[in-house]
Amino acid sequence: MNYLKIFAPATVANVSCGFDSMGFAVDQVGDEMSFTKTTKKGVKITAITGANLTFDVDKNAAGAVVKKMLLEAKADFGIELTIHKGYSPGSGLGSSAASSAGAAFGANQLLGNIYSDLELTKFAMFGEQVACGTPIADNVSAAIYGGFVLVRSYSPLEIIKLPVPSELRVVAIHPQVEVKTKDAREVLPTEIALKDAVTQWANVGGLISGLYSDNYSLISNSLVDIIVEPYRKKLIPFFDDVKNAATKAGALGAGISGSGPTIFALCKGDDIAKSVYKNIENSYKNTGIDFEMFISKVNHEGIKILE
Ligand code: HSE
Repeated sequence: MNYLKIFAPATVANVSCGFDSMGFAVDQVGDEMSFTKTTKKGVKITAITGANLTFDVDKNAAGAVVKKMLLEAKADFGIELTIHKGYSPGSGLGSSAASSAGAAFGANQLLGNIYSDLELTKFAMFGEQVACGTPIADNVSAAIYGGFVLVRSYSPLEIIKLPVPSELRVVAIHPQVEVKTKDAREVLPTEIALKDAVTQWANVGGLISGLYSDNYSLISNSLVDIIVEPYRKKLIPFFDDVKNAATKAGALGAGISGSGPTIFALCKGDDIAKSVYKNIENSYKNTGIDFEMFISKVNHEGIKILE
């Protein structure tokens, strides 16, 4: 293989209670990237569209991942890549993760598929380190594995792919304000009360159990984040209004997508998802802040080869 073009999905990390340990991929939104083998060694980013990102291979998450992989595999060729961002960086939808995960996947194809999904996740985490200073696994593993994932352990890294109830839909609103992951991590407490930890880990268990048993009311009861959301919601204008609008229209729950500002709502079925979409839209349209919205199924496949 000398060339391929891929789609790398956007992802919703944390899913309320599972800070840094849960995520899922969405179907409708993502990046397109192309990879071309070159006889000249090294990595070159030849085009970036859809966002204003650096072409410096060491500072661009995708470029840095491809460079690391070619070096570690002692490849005797180089790669030219193009990146088309389908959505903005700083959205909370795993923008750097889509680039990092897509880069790991694409480079692996040109290397002859020598790495496992777990190894690709580790390379993609390096991209997250370059992009935001922390090698977080939740977004990148969701993009690579598809569906819902649990980062069961960071050291050693262990990713569990979880089942997805068939009627699960996500509605997302992206207010056009930028929240940098680094900043959204700096507002978090370094210590939490034991009673809060108990509530949170019980909700993670409940959410996972609900996914395995198709139990939508258990999913709904478990979509609660008492640890991170109270700090981060202050960075997102009208967060509580959106959450109320979503739950009033029948959403199972709503929360911050990754580090925000995108707010996601999980819903059972298309009809409820459409009502939730409308209610959220109505709640935001007079705020004076521009926004984008989408409804999506959960993406089961992860990264797809387009050409
Ligand atoms: N789990 C991460 C966070 C996702 O919430 O900071 C953002 O990359």
